[in-house]
Amino acid sequence: MQIQSDTRTLYQRIGGEAKLRRLVQRFYKHMDELPEALPIRWMHADNLQTAEDKLFMFLSGWMGGPQLYIEQFGHPRLRMRHISFSIGEAERDQWIQCMKHALDDVIGDEILRTELLQALYGVADFMRNQPE
Ligand code: HEM
Repeated sequence: MQIQSDTRTLYQRIGGEAKLRRLVQRFYKHMDELPEALPIRWMHADNLQTAEDKLFMFLSGWMGGPQLYIEQFGHPRLRMRHISFSIGEAERDQWIQCMKHALDDVIGDEILRTELLQALYGVADFMRNQPE
């Protein structure tokens, strides 16, 4: 018997557009409500809708689905777009904490959840722009 590896994209594995939309909704809900995420919440506009839409569009392409962010805004240059925010280890960890809760809320498969969290940790760590 030959073991087939899973060749589906992350986008397909999480369940596509509706699941991703739910994930980013939960992410910003946690950012809005977790006391430990207050420092990064304050960096954002009062209304989180634009941030939510943009993260949804970015992650869609990042997960191998439609490249919605690039179609609308061009190359993400994500690190450059975050340079005006002071992001160190604490801010990275707050962001990841919100994402961990959102993944727990939305993704049933533990292996997929862990895989996503690890990959997103790499992106969040790359966003750091403060010497520690
Ligand atoms: C590491 C900690 C991070 C902090 C503190 C942070 C903070 C922010 C803030 C304050 C904004 C502006 C939102 C607004 O318009 O009100 C923003 C935008 C954005 N963030 Fe982050 N972010 C972090 C990590 C990440 C990561 C890991 C990703 C992707 C996986 C990401 C994706 C985005 C995107 C796509 C935008 C919109 C950029 C634009 O077109 O203007 N961020 N972020």
